[in-house]
Amino acid sequence: MSVVSIDHQGDIAIVTVDNPPVNALSKALRQGLWDAVETLDADPSVRAAVLICAGRTFIAGADVTEFGKPPQEPHLPDLVDRIEGAEKPWIAAIHGSALGGGFEVAMGCRFRVALDSASVGLPEVSLGIVPGASGTVRTPRLAGVEAAVDLVTSGKPVRAAKALSLGLIDAVFAGDLQASAVAFARDALTRDLPPPVSERPVTAPDDAFWDDRRKTVAKAAKGADAPLRALDCLRKAAEAPFAEAMAHERQTFLELRGSDQAAALRHVFFAERAAPRPPHLRDVDPLPLRRVGVIGGGTMGAGIAAALRDAGLPVVLVERDSEALARGTANLRAIFEGAVKRGKLSDAQAEARMAGVTATTDYAALADADLVIEAVFEEIAVKRAVFDQLATACRLDAVLATNTSYLDPRLIADGLPNPDRFLGLHFFSPANVMRLLEIVPVPQTSDRTLATGFALARALNKIPVQSGICEGFIGNRILKRYRAGAEALVRQGVPIAEIDAAMRAYGLAMGPFEAQDLGGLDIAFLQREGARALGQDVPETLGDILVRAGRKGQKTGGGWYDYTPGDRRPQPSPMVAALLAGRIAGTAAMDRDAIARHLVGEMAAEGQAILDEGIAARASDIDLVEIHGYGFPRWRGGPMFASAAGTRTV
Ligand code: 3HC
Ligand code: NAI
Repeated sequence: MSVVSIDHQGDIAIVTVDNPPVNALSKALRQGLWDAVETLDADPSVRAAVLICAGRTFIAGADVTEFGKPPQEPHLPDLVDRIEGAEKPWIAAIHGSALGGGFEVAMGCRFRVALDSASVGLPEVSLGIVPGASGTVRTPRLAGVEAAVDLVTSGKPVRAAKALSLGLIDAVFAGDLQASAVAFARDALTRDLPPPVSERPVTAPDDAFWDDRRKTVAKAAKGADAPLRALDCLRKAAEAPFAEAMAHERQTFLELRGSDQAAALRHVFFAERAAPRPPHLRDVDPLPLRRVGVIGGGTMGAGIAAALRDAGLPVVLVERDSEALARGTANLRAIFEGAVKRGKLSDAQAEARMAGVTATTDYAALADADLVIEAVFEEIAVKRAVFDQLATACRLDAVLATNTSYLDPRLIADGLPNPDRFLGLHFFSPANVMRLLEIVPVPQTSDRTLATGFALARALNKIPVQSGICEGFIGNRILKRYRAGAEALVRQGVPIAEIDAAMRAYGLAMGPFEAQDLGGLDIAFLQREGARALGQDVPETLGDILVRAGRKGQKTGGGWYDYTPGDRRPQPSPMVAALLAGRIAGTAAMDRDAIARHLVGEMAAEGQAILDEGIAARASDIDLVEIHGYGFPRWRGGPMFASAAGTRTV
């Protein structure tokens, strides 16, 4: 069946694209559209063409699966020019998303109309490339340079109403898109046509504008190349003739398409799409989620409750007594108030978020909850007592989850009636921000319960990764190895500050030591002490020495570094040097690339062990854990991807 078909409504042709799942611009689709232009140009009964898509979305972009292969004709920029040069005006009728090449095709059309629910954008930089079919050249001609810079360098789509106000589209409709687009076409034919987008003027901003944007774009890019290269293309588009800017954009696109960063970002793109729908749960229906309970309103409980409310789910928040409940409610309110301060929520929205929370000390309020997430103290006795109460308070089919970081979920589930509805849902702090959700089944967990965990992740817009049971699950287990690797380097004489600087240069927001100072060294210390108390052989770490000397991190004025009050900048610490003196073997010179490669190699080695033990199903899942839970640079693809490449330079 052809991916492009043509119908007629009087003198208006309807060109329908049907290339599931997302109408990506495969070779067949490019050819089909090219042929449609030729056919309609040759048909004297046609005065205009409406380009519309079947299925869930307008054209969502180039076909990412073709990116590893040599480009094939017809090339997309030529197709966009061909549509623009058609003898009859084309009108793009957009529903869902018009992204990347999809929006470029729309910009080749003389008009763009959209459903009010639609969005448009140029997300290419998130795939490590720049738009390759005039996105950087036509967008400034439609919306001005400033808006084009925002759109292209951020890669973030905008909703139809915003797109209309920016001039990216010409009309927004509700209801029947095709009928509205046909009516729009008929009306447009009664008036003079606007010039094709490529012929519209563009006003070039001054040097100061570009200098300023270069700084802000570089800061946001955090080491990714594509946003700055896109900025260069936009500058060319503002200052050079259309054809010259197009040639520059195409050359940049082809160069970046073959880059390591683009390969890494494509890997993440497909990993993220595979993660939410594991094949073994494809035919399993999750339980409906209408109301969710959260036990504990501390750091994690409040964050989880906020995430649930952001997704529109009613929440029952249970605390142990009225004082703790007041604190928990205040924690939750503080999260929404913070969002108001940052302009993310209006006051009314924040109030509505709070209004959807039932705060109580009475477990009976959980009688109609479909899912309950426990986030109380990390102590087995406390957790077991909570689950005893949940066993009587909740429906027998309600899913019961623990947010434990390190306890064995099998011990928490022990004794629970219907343990098939139990699982671990390990959120990351801050839980309303961090996208990773480790999903940890126990042996009894049913597929339906597991599928419900994945459904929750989708509802919360989280990235779910299934983990088997081991100490620290996937993420914290790798973190432990990474930290141990960093400490081993310190013992060899590599300066602490050099290790942190190396990991920052690699693309992490912080190195391992400054990150511990921020989060506190005491949590991991207490965990090691707990294991020692149980008779386990846990060798002394350098961190233990610091905590025993009262150095727990920024909160105590110092950890691996010293801090002056009110200043979060780490300063090398003479006290640490003295405390660790006996453990450090002289000084070792190691360049930053080598440090980063070594530590990423440590992460990958632990990842490999995790795979070998069947704790994780796929290497790409481990990459997602590091990217979405631990700030590993996305454009490196994750430690498994980066290490598999082996020769990848830092
Ligand atoms: N190419 C190939 N396959 C794609 C694709 C693309 N551009 N976009 C999505 N898919 C596939 C996914 O891999 C997934 O496949 P699967 O079902 O086998 O796992 C399927 O389509 C559905 O994708 P989602 O699960 O993401 O579907 P949603 O409905 O949640 O989202 C979407 C739809 C918003 C369109 C989302 O898929 C998306 O954002 N896609 C990427 C769009 C994009 O990045 N486009 C730019 C491409 S680069 C480009 O155009 C270069 C040009 O300038 C030359
Ligand atoms: P927290 O100490 O900030 O909060 C725990 C809350 O549980 C307190 O508000 C306390 O009053 C409440 N609580 C204790 N017993 C209770 C009971 N019987 N009934 C109701 N509420 C009770 O602890 P935090 O950091 O929120 O951790 C909670 C859980 O989440 C722990 O299991 C921890 O390991 C896990 N976790 C913590 C992360 C973090 O970064 N803090 C990350 C991921 C998981």
